[in-house]
Amino acid sequence: MERVLCLLIGYVFGLFQTSYLYGKMHGIDIRETGSGNAGTTNALRTLGKRAGIITLLGDAFKCVLAVVVVHLLYRSSRPEMLPLLSMYAGFGAVLGHNYPIQLGFKGGKGIAATAGIILSTTNVWVVLICLAAFIAIVATTRYVSVGSLVIVTIYLISVIVRIYTGSYNTSPKYYWEMILIATLFLISAVLKHRENIKRLLNGTENKISFSSKKKE
Ligand code: G3P
Repeated sequence: MERVLCLLIGYVFGLFQTSYLYGKMHGIDIRETGSGNAGTTNALRTLGKRAGIITLLGDAFKCVLAVVVVHLLYRSSRPEMLPLLSMYAGFGAVLGHNYPIQLGFKGGKGIAATAGIILSTTNVWVVLICLAAFIAIVATTRYVSVGSLVIVTIYLISVIVRIYTGSYNTSPKYYWEMILIATLFLISAVLKHRENIKRLLNGTENKISFSSKKKE
């Protein structure tokens, strides 16, 4: 029951579509411009740097908020389940972001929301490794999609490593489920990046431009 509730809490937070709302305020439907993705990269690409930064912060923060709510709800009654329940909330936020009911289930790819779960449930080393890998990949290739898929993979690896090293304050009976949810983050990201992967394979993937201008 707790699991379903946390997933639902995450889903509701995930419905807040930062790039869509920012675009609407500027007379643009982000889902009909650029790559058509309601996320940070497309906001940067089509609406400018400010839109990209606001989208990244808004989409990551909604996931952090979902995790905070879950902690407030269960810190007394289910403290040993918090690492697992936080992951359910985070994955719910990714689902809400990717498949928002109010937008006909057409949202983003869930990477900023995944950054939110990394920020709120891992540790400074995982955050730094993700950040360094993402910056290095995007700076050298200019493929944000590759950087995105790599950080979701690092997240899954970090969960496995932290379980193996016993650094979660939880019961071992939840370990397999935590690995399963971290794997679902990755599967969901790969599914959402299907078109990016096809374009990467045939050499037509969009490269990000850091000098992109805001479109009026
Ligand atoms: O986080 C989304 C990014 O990985 C790819 O975005 O707009 O280039 O498909 P986009």
